[in-house]
Amino acid sequence: MADRLRLGVNIDHVATLRNARGGALPDPVRAARVAEEAGADGITAHLREDRRHIRDADIDAIMAAITIPLNFEMAATDEMQRIALAHKPHAACIVPERREERTTEGGLEVAGDEARLDAYIAPLRDAGIRVSLFIAADPAQIAAAARIGAPVIELHTGAYCDFHAEGDVAARDAELQRLIDGARRAADLGLEVHMGHGLCYDTVGPVAALPEVAELNIGHFLIGEAVFVGLPRAIARMREAMDAARG
Ligand code: PXP
Repeated sequence: MADRLRLGVNIDHVATLRNARGGALPDPVRAARVAEEAGADGITAHLREDRRHIRDADIDAIMAAITIPLNFEMAATDEMQRIALAHKPHAACIVPERREERTTEGGLEVAGDEARLDAYIAPLRDAGIRVSLFIAADPAQIAAAARIGAPVIELHTGAYCDFHAEGDVAARDAELQRLIDGARRAADLGLEVHMGHGLCYDTVGPVAALPEVAELNIGHFLIGEAVFVGLPRAIARMREAMDAARG
């Protein structure tokens, strides 16, 4: 069993809201600080190519405002590599990115792009950044991640959560089983296992219960819930759900 299950709070959508008006509010840096005070173990932020939520200046400001680690989500581009090396966040999660998508839709294609990704993550690792790869719970992707020496993978929980929301219990349970098998396979290969995307109070339990999982990264649901109950309460309730599932 991994040590205490960590909760990484993704604050991207505070920035989305800020950007909708073009001003400075609501401030994602304040959200990061509030999340830390509410018990987040890390802050996650995705600097997209189109800067639709977090922007370049937010990175330094967030890193200066928090004492917990920043998990910097980034596409495997030269620009993002330069930015990551300049800021040296605690962790960098490499995600696939397509401009037209609303959110990160699928996992990273590691198996088909092994040589390039191997070379791509090497300078990040050498700079002391903990690299993780955001992938589907697919045996071929997990094996490729292990081969290129990524210390961490984050398994994409989006399909599991989507099927839950659609009420398709059989498909949801099949996806959950894929996540369970993937987590076990990855742990056997020596990888640290994270999970995230689309998680909410209703879906977090079964993944939080998996002993191989060390960290969950959760954003959109928490920021949405914060509109109604405030960010500290939303985070505290998620923490309780994770702890209850972990037993
Ligand atoms: N993990 C990764 C790698 C992501 O790309 C995202 C979305 O930015 C999340 C976790 C959080 O997903 P959500 O906002 O749906 O909770």
